Parts: sequence; C-alpha cells; structure tokens
Amino acid sequence: MPGAEAARVPRHIAIVMDGNGRWAKARRRPRSFGHNAGRKAVRVVIEGCLREGVQALTLFAFSSENWQRPQDEVGALMSLFLRALDKEVDELHQHGVRLRFIGDLDAFDEPLRQRMQAAMTHTAGNRALQVNIAVSYGGRWDIVQASRRAAAAVASGELALGQIDEARLGQWMCLAELPPLDLFIRTGGECRISNFLLWQAAYAELYFTETLWPDFDQACLRHAIEDYARRERRFGRTGEQVAATS
Ligand code: FPP
Repeated sequence: MPGAEAARVPRHIAIVMDGNGRWAKARRRPRSFGHNAGRKAVRVVIEGCLREGVQALTLFAFSSENWQRPQDEVGALMSLFLRALDKEVDELHQHGVRLRFIGDLDAFDEPLRQRMQAAMTHTAGNRALQVNIAVSYGGRWDIVQASRRAAAAVASGELALGQIDEARLGQWMCLAELPPLDLFIRTGGECRISNFLLWQAAYAELYFTETLWPDFDQACLRHAIEDYARRERRFGRTGEQVAATS
C-alpha cells in the first residue's frame, strides 16, 4: 500500500463492544443470546481488520467492573469465552492472527487461564494481525500495575525516582510494544470511555456509533475507518504546523 494511503488506515483500533443486552432484549431473548451474537461480530471485525491492513485490534470483552453483573450472566460469559477459545483459535492461527489477553488474568479460574495462556503461546509467532482481548481489565488497574512496577524499580535501586517519566511508565502499560492506539470505537450509543485504555487513548480518535455490537459488520468498520481518515491529527500542534510537515 502506498505511504499516503497506508497513513489513512489506523494501525491500532480499540473497540468497546456495547449493546449485546439491548440487541437480545429487542428480540425477547436472554442477554447471553446477545453475547453469543456479539461473538460472531468479533469474528467479522477480525476478518475486516485483516482485509484493511490494521496491525492491532484491542477488544473490551470483560471489564474489571463486569464482575458485578448477575452471577448467571458472568457464568454465561465465561463459558462463551471458553467455547470461543476452543472453536476459534485454530482458525485465527491459520489467518496469522496473534492472540493476547490483557487484564487481571489471575481473577479467572484455572481452566480458563490455562486456555488463554495456551492460545497466546500457540499464536505467538503470528504477524498478520494482533488481537488483544481485554478481560478483567480496567484502565485504572493498568495504570496501577505500571506504577507498582515503577515503585519496585525505584525501591530496588534499579532506577532513580527522577528517571520515572511518561516514556518509562508507558513502557510498563499494557500494549506498550504495539503501535499507538489510533482509533477508539464504541458501539451501542453511549459516548464514554468506561475505564478502557485510559493511558493509551490519550491521542486516539474517538468514534461513537448507535449501532449495537452484534450488528457491527465490515461495512460499519469501513465507515469508522473512513471517518478516521478524514480527521486532522494535531498532537498539540497547530493545523498550519501539521500541514507544513505532511
Ligand atoms: C457489553 O454489552 C458487552 C459485554 C460486557 C461483553 C462483550 C462480549 C462479547 C462481545 C462476547 C464475545 C467476545 C469474545 C472476545 C469471544 P452489554 O451487555 O453491556 O449490552 P447492553 O448495554 O445493551 O446491556
């Protein structure tokens, strides 16, 4: 892809996949039916990202706060994750997808943790697209875990306090090794970040759509990418400065 064209494709997309419950309710079905439909949308969007040449896709599958949902919904989501891992990993692997799970993985039962670890190991060598699934994840949790690592490095004498700066702390945040987050999408009509990737989204372009997650398809993804391509990203500079360097 020529340079100018490639620049218009976000390197890294994050999605808050909201609206499964309402999608199910509109069909008089249980919320788990909506989550299952949401799983199919995940597949479609991964295919879309592969086609568009996106390098990394980060999906908010289960937040630190989602543990507060009714027990049966949490249980249904856990078994859905297990089924998805069993069913989808081989095919993702064949398409060159590298899978990673980010979040407080210790919060999960051993069988699920083992499956997540196995999927990460199995796909570790793939390069076509990295898909990060955020589970038991919160942006504040991420900042706290990075801060703890910084504190430990200072306490052990490995670093001086003055050496802790944005770049250093950023190295300890989840996804630091990936291209910066370019496009943050939220489906389902709410216009908030809900504690997802707080640090990483500092300069991301935000895109909100009324479309409920199970209805989000490749055309919706294309629309979001086209919208992103029209944005002027200034990173604190003036429009004139940006024009002079592009
Ligand atoms: C938010 O919709 C969605 C979730 C909390 C779960 C997301 C899970 C999936 C899309 C399932 C598959 C994921 C993977 C990675 C296999 P909501 O329940 O809050 O919807 P509502 O706002 O309409 O109630």
